[in-house]
Amino acid sequence: MKEGEVKIIGFLCNWCCYAGADLAGVSRFQYPPNIRIIRVMCSGRVDPVIILDTFLWGADGVFIGGCHPGDCHYMQGNYYAEKKIEMAKRLLKEAGVEPERLRLEWVSASEGERFAGVMREFTEEIKELGKIKFEKDEMEAACIAAADYRLRILATKEKELLEEGNKYGEVFTRHEMNRLLDDMVREEYEAKKILLKLKKPKSVKEIAAELNLKPNVVFRHIMDLRRYELIEVHEIRDNTPTYVAKVEEGGE
Ligand code: FES
Repeated sequence: MKEGEVKIIGFLCNWCCYAGADLAGVSRFQYPPNIRIIRVMCSGRVDPVIILDTFLWGADGVFIGGCHPGDCHYMQGNYYAEKKIEMAKRLLKEAGVEPERLRLEWVSASEGERFAGVMREFTEEIKELGKIKFEKDEMEAACIAAADYRLRILATKEKELLEEGNKYGEVFTRHEMNRLLDDMVREEYEAKKILLKLKKPKSVKEIAAELNLKPNVVFRHIMDLRRYELIEVHEIRDNTPTYVAKVEEGGE
């Protein structure tokens, strides 16, 4: 691959898409050399943190290949993959990166020709988008937000909430669910951006100015971060508290 070419990382399920890629190779169906393949046991094992970290390390595109719906060897792995990827796309958008750089496809072991076709198409799309660009702080915040247990639970409970409802029997509409997911992703992303800013002590006003957020929004996140014991008061400066991130034991 030439210098400056786009790089794509593909996570392929062992039982279907990986075998499809293998068949494409054996059958000599051509596809561009921009993709590097990582074999996983199920598409559902590809965590949003891994996806965002792959972009952080310089991938211009990430491809996930899983078994067709109903064919997952672990029953619902590909359903969870779909939900995790939707979550990762939302976080990419928050970090200012085109969600189209992330693609999920179902490819069976017998679809070698289709695998090569999808790879050609995806590589073209990534070439059109060009090399990835992002602010390191923003992508790091997206990565940390992706690890949040509340987002993960909500993403995997979507089907249940849409079909059976919550414990009070309230069934969510698709529109309500999308709004809830968008709001939670934004909240979590903002909180993690604030947390990263607090590597050095800052006041609410200073953070609000740096992140272009309203002071009352920053204050609400600060209260939550304190409640989760992720930050602490550093000092009171001219009657104004400044906050700093807590250093984990064994950390810097
Ligand atoms: Fe292939 Fe789950 S085993 S997607």
